Amino acid sequence: MSGMPLETRIWVTFREGVYDITDYIKKHPGGEKILISAIGGQLEPLWTMYPFHEHRAILQTLEMHRIGNLALEDQIDDPFKFFDDPYINDPVMHSDNHVVVEKPYIGSGPLSRLGDEFYTPNEHFYVRNHLPVPQIDPNTHTIELEIEGTDNKKCYTLDDLKRMKNVTVTAALMCSGNRREEMVKAVPGAREMVANLTPNFISNAQWTGVPLSCLLKDMGITTDEKKYKHVQFIGLDKEVTGEPYSASIPIFKATDPYGDVILAYEMNGAPLPPMHGFPIRAFVPGHTGARSVKWLKKVLVSEHEAPCHYQQIDYKLYGPNVNWKNVDYSACPALQMVPVNSAVCRPNNGDTVHVEDGCINIKGYAYSGGGQKIIRLDVTSDGGETWHTATLDHQDKSEAPHHWAWTLWSCKIPVKKDASEVDVWCKAVDSSGNVQPESFKNIFSWKGCPCNAYNRVKVKLSH
Ligand code: MTE
Repeated sequence: MSGMPLETRIWVTFREGVYDITDYIKKHPGGEKILISAIGGQLEPLWTMYPFHEHRAILQTLEMHRIGNLALEDQIDDPFKFFDDPYINDPVMHSDNHVVVEKPYIGSGPLSRLGDEFYTPNEHFYVRNHLPVPQIDPNTHTIELEIEGTDNKKCYTLDDLKRMKNVTVTAALMCSGNRREEMVKAVPGAREMVANLTPNFISNAQWTGVPLSCLLKDMGITTDEKKYKHVQFIGLDKEVTGEPYSASIPIFKATDPYGDVILAYEMNGAPLPPMHGFPIRAFVPGHTGARSVKWLKKVLVSEHEAPCHYQQIDYKLYGPNVNWKNVDYSACPALQMVPVNSAVCRPNNGDTVHVEDGCINIKGYAYSGGGQKIIRLDVTSDGGETWHTATLDHQDKSEAPHHWAWTLWSCKIPVKKDASEVDVWCKAVDSSGNVQPESFKNIFSWKGCPCNAYNRVKVKLSH
């Protein structure tokens, strides 16, 4: 907005309302994308791309900026009818999925089934999109690798990559906002968020592709690299501004042959499904899901982190004192490796469970980022007076710090004889001795990540 005269105010319309958003722009969680509608423009075309804006919390924020209404003759019955649905070609997902947001699609297989299979079936693997799924022809699609500011560039087709030596990595992928719903509920006065994710925004699979460290080595970029600090991944899905989804990881992770970053084209032995980045995605084990860029177009070795909103604003580590009024985005680092986490998959909150021999059976998952392995899972049914060690039923054999998969666990815990309900809590411990914090209160982050306090489930008992 530099260069604008000081007295310029920015007004937008939504349905019949007129709003002065001048003072709000800097705080807009979606950044300056809102300027697409700037100065007298309609919000409707912008909200066709980002329909989740018609969320109570957002409408309330907008209302705070209302300065008047359009004249009756300028009002239109349904202003959305003039704009095409950009999500019209998105693949249809499994009908069993628990859908948090329809457009862009944010959904996952049912939590109660999540802990049943070590490898999550592709159709139930969680999906976290931010934009419409791009249509890509695998026969003509190419991936570019480039070292910023130089002529050092390479270009590969899907077939080129498939002819190279590949690796298969067993790894979980977890969304930064997994379990956000619990964080928002647990913290009084927490600002309502649009994607209140349940604990099923994590899944586990076998990923096959070409090691990024080999491709970079081929361009002269190795673990000794000093000048370039980041590797950016640029996707083909685009914001209304035309800016593509992108993310970056530190160069040491990208060049480390044991870091297992791959350009993946298969998931659980099948071609990458369209929702998961077909034909090629970056896969960064141990890091938050946001860095594993789908529908990959370009890999850029750079001195800078990716410029994208999701690197610069959204998936960052903020202190509990930070809020949308006082935030200094540049002072907070991007989330990369994720902390230790766990959740109960069965029973679910509110389920009725049958008591057998004074005990109930529970099962769930545990995971820690950065290649840490789960070494223990503790469960209590009496508010922490007595803890029980769960059985780690399924765990990958790889050792820390290269352990990328989740761990599935189960536990039989005693409950009081005549109790009609019980609170079950679980917490995991990883190979560095990191343990989940007890409550969300002291780890609250206004952007809702990471969310790794004890998982607490209230269940009814039938004796
Ligand atoms: N890559 C692109 N191009 N576009 C996206 O919206 N979402 C990111 C990441 N990569 C995203 C992306 C986020 S936030 C997550 S959690 C993972 O993809 C989810 O991957 P999945 O949908 O295959 O489970």
